[in-house]
Amino acid sequence: EKTNHGYTLFSILLSALGQVSYSIPEEMAKGSLVGTIAQDLGLDLKRLKSGKARIHTGDSAEYIELNKERGVLLIKERIDREALCGQTTPCALHLQIILDNPMELFRITVEITDINDNSPIFKRDERRFEISESAVVGSKFMLEKAIDADIGANDLQSYLLQPTDHFDLKLHSQSDGSKKVEMILQKPLDREKQENMSLILTAVDGGEPPKSGTVQIHITVLDANDNAPVFTKPIYRAIITENSQSGTSLITVSASDSDKGSNGEVSYLIANSDGVSDIFHIDENGLVTLVGKIDFETSKHYQIDIEAVDNGGLSDSSKIMVDVTDINDNTPGITVMSKSNAIPEDSPQSTVIAMISVNDPDSDSNGQVQCSVNENIPFTIKSTSNGFYSIVTDSDLDRELESEYNISVTCADEGVPSLSSSVILSLKISDVNDNAPVFDKSSYEASVQENNTPGLSIFRVRARDADFNQNARVSYILEDSSVNGVPVSSLVSVSADSGVIHAVRSFDYEQIKDFQFRVKAQDGGNPPLSSNVSVKIMIRDQNDNAPQVLYPVQSGASVVAEIVPRSADVGYLVTKVVAVDVDSGQNAWLSYKLQKATDRALFEVGLQNGEIRTVRQVTDKDAVKQRLTVVVEDNGQPSRSATVNVNVAVADSFPEVLSEFTDFPHDKDYNDNLTFYLVLALAVVSFLFIVSIIAILSVKCYRWRREQMFYKSGANLPVIPYYPPLYADVGGTGTLQHVYNYEVCRTTDSRKSDLKYGRPCSESIISLDSSGTQTLTHSQRERLNFDDCKDQVRIFFYR
Ligand SMILES: *[C@@H]1O[C@H](CO)[C@@H](O)[C@H](O)[C@H]1NC(C)=O
Ligand SMILES: *[C@@H]1O[C@H](CO)[C@@H](O)[C@H](O)[C@H]1NC(C)=O
Ligand SMILES: *[C@@H]1O[C@H](CO)[C@@H](O)[C@H](O)[C@H]1NC(C)=O
Repeated sequence: EKTNHGYTLFSILLSALGQVSYSIPEEMAKGSLVGTIAQDLGLDLKRLKSGKARIHTGDSAEYIELNKERGVLLIKERIDREALCGQTTPCALHLQIILDNPMELFRITVEITDINDNSPIFKRDERRFEISESAVVGSKFMLEKAIDADIGANDLQSYLLQPTDHFDLKLHSQSDGSKKVEMILQKPLDREKQENMSLILTAVDGGEPPKSGTVQIHITVLDANDNAPVFTKPIYRAIITENSQSGTSLITVSASDSDKGSNGEVSYLIANSDGVSDIFHIDENGLVTLVGKIDFETSKHYQIDIEAVDNGGLSDSSKIMVDVTDINDNTPGITVMSKSNAIPEDSPQSTVIAMISVNDPDSDSNGQVQCSVNENIPFTIKSTSNGFYSIVTDSDLDRELESEYNISVTCADEGVPSLSSSVILSLKISDVNDNAPVFDKSSYEASVQENNTPGLSIFRVRARDADFNQNARVSYILEDSSVNGVPVSSLVSVSADSGVIHAVRSFDYEQIKDFQFRVKAQDGGNPPLSSNVSVKIMIRDQNDNAPQVLYPVQSGASVVAEIVPRSADVGYLVTKVVAVDVDSGQNAWLSYKLQKATDRALFEVGLQNGEIRTVRQVTDKDAVKQRLTVVVEDNGQPSRSATVNVNVAVADSFPEVLSEFTDFPHDKDYNDNLTFYLVLALAVVSFLFIVSIIAILSVKCYRWRREQMFYKSGANLPVIPYYPPLYADVGGTGTLQHVYNYEVCRTTDSRKSDLKYGRPCSESIISLDSSGTQTLTHSQRERLNFDDCKDQVRIFFYR
C-alpha cells in the first residue's frame, strides 16, 4: 500500500481533468497495486458494485484488472515495457472504466516506466576478420553494434575492446542517434609473428548496475608476400664427369621463404643468358639435372646462376660452380705434316722420312701420348718436341730385300683404358745401282758339233740383276781374248741383249777341240756394274775323216812283202797293219778285217789290232806269194774305211823271195827299187827309233813342266785331267774325246804298257798353242795335227 502512495498523488493530480493517470514500472508482480481508482475518481464502493464497473481495454491484452471490493487497479498480467512499446516513450496503457445506471466513462492512463532489465546484445557471438598483414595503419574495420532494448539511461552507453595491441575503437555518432563502431589498425600486423588474434568487444549500458554484452572478434592475419626466398648457400659446388648421361642429377639447391602459401612457394630457375641453360635444368624442387652434353674439352667449368622466385615475384640468387672431370674419351689425333713417298736405298741412317704431330685434347694422363712404329722395320720414331714426332731410318735400307714399307704409326694415350689411333705411311725405296749382274752359273760349258753352220746359236748365258729397271738391264759383252792366236771374236759372238752365243764360223774338231772365253754382263746403271763368267765351248767330233793307213806304206809300185819262214808256227805274227783316224772316239775306233786273201785259210787279221798272223802251219805247198787285202773301218756313223794290200812272201830265204816276186806284174820296177826300199826301211826304222827316244824325253820333260805349273798356280788352276789306262771320264760334256783318244792309243799300242804317255790330243793342242801366234798357218796346222797324235804314231813304231 505504501509504495503506491506516490502514484495516488499523481492520480489525484489528473482527476481534475476527468481522467486519472498512473505511472508504474514495468515488470511488477501479478496482483501488485496500480492505483486506488475508486478513491481517485471519488466513487464509493457501492456505486462501483451497482454500476457494474468494468474495464474496457479494446483489443489490447488485459494487463490490469479492477478489484471492485477494494476499489483498486491491480496488475493482472506481467507487463514488459519493451514488448509493449519497444523504444517508444512514454509508454502508456489506456483503459476505460465503464459504469452502468447511469452510464459513466472514465479514462485511465497507466504509464509504464523502464527498468534496466536488458543487457546490450550483439547479434552474433563472434565475428571473424581476415586482414592482410600488409594492411596499413589506420585501416578501419566495421564492427557490429550491440543493441539494448532498454531505453534512456538503461540503454547502451559505451564499448570496450580488448586487448588493444593492434587495434583501437572509434565510435561515430550517427544521425539516428545510434553509434557506428569501428576498429582501427594502430600497429602493423605480421603474419610471420602472430597469425591468429582474438579480441573481445564489450558493450555496456547505463543502468544501475550496468549490464554488458560481449562479442568475440577473431582476426586471421593473412599473409602478404613480404619475405623473399633465401638460398641456403651463397655458392654451391658440384662435380660432374664429362659425357654423363642426360638426366644425371647434379645437386639439389634450396631456398626458404617464410611467407605462407603461394607467397612462400618458391620456384627455381637458371638465369644464365649463355648456353648454360641448355645444358642444365633445375626443377621445382631445386634439383639440378643435366640435359645437354658435357664435354671437358669444350668447357672445364660451368657457373650456373640460379634464382629462387616466390609467387609474389620476390627472389634470391645464388650460383653453382660446376667442375667437369675428364674421362678418356678422345683418341689421339695424328696429323702427318710432311712425308716422303720414296727415298733412295742408300739413304744414311737417321734420314727423316715423315713428321707428324699428335694431339690428344684429354687432360693429364688421358692426354699423355706415346707413339711407336711397328717392329721389324728399319725405322724408328723420335719425339722432337712436345707433340711432334719424326720418323727416321735407323738401319740401312736395301730395296732388293724390301722395296716398300707400310710404316704403321700408333699413338696411344695413358688413360685407362688407353685409346689409340694409327696411320699407315707407305714408303717406297727407290733403286740405287748397288747390285752387279750375277750369272746363273759360276761357269758355263757347252758343246757344239763340228762342221756347224756359221751363225749357229750355241746356247745362252744369262745374268740377273737384282736392281730395278735401268739398273737391272743387263747387256752381254764378249771379253777380248785369243784362242790359239786368233781373237775369240772370230770364233763366237754374244748377243748383247739376250746373251745368246753364236758360232761365227764352222768349227773343226780336228783343229780345235775346245776353247774358253769370258762374257761380261753389264747393267745400265750409272756408273754401270758388271761381272764376268768363263764360258767353255767344246767341239764334238764328227766322223769326217777316213782312217789312214800308215803301214804298210802304200805306193804305186809297192812290192814290199813280209817274209814268213816256212818253219813258222801257227800264230806267227806276220806283220801289223797300222792305221790312224784323226777323228776321235768312236769315229777313230778302228777295226781291221781281211777282205781278200790268196789263201784265206792261212792268215787272219786281229780285229782290234790289225795283226796279221798265221792260222795254220805253213807247208811247202803254200805259194810263196801271198796277197792279202785288209780293210780298216772306223766306228763312226756312217763309218768310213780304207783298204790296204799286204804282200806276204812265204820263203826261207831272201833270194827265194826275190825270185818269186819278180813274177809280179811290175817286176822290173820291183828289181830296180828293191834295194832302195830295203835301205829305206832300214832308215825309217832307225829314224823312228831316234824319234821315239826324243819323244819319250820330251814327254817326260813336258810332264815335269806341267807339275811345275800346277804347283805354281795352286788349286785355282783348272786341273788338266790325267787319264790312266782303261779309265773313261764320265764327268760330263766334252769329255768323250778323251776316251776316244785313249782308244786310239790303245789300238796303236796294244802290246806296250807305257800307255800313260797317251794324253788327250786336245790337251796337247791347247797347251802347245795357247801362247802361239794369232793365225794358224797351214804348216802350223799340219804340225798341230802331227803333234796331236805324235804319241800314238811314235808308240806304234816303238815296237
Ligand atoms: C589460426 O586460425 C586458423 C583458423 O581459425 C587455424 O586454422 C590456424 O591453425 C590458426 N593458426 C595458429 C598459428 O594458431
Ligand atoms: C702396303 O699397303 C698397301 C695397301 O694396303 C698394299 O697394297 C701393300 O701390299 C702393302 N705393302 C707391304 C710391304 O705390306
Ligand atoms: C772378271 O771377274 C773377276 C772376278 O770374278 C775379276 O777379278 C776380273 O777382273 C774380271 N775380268 C774382267 C776382264 O773384268
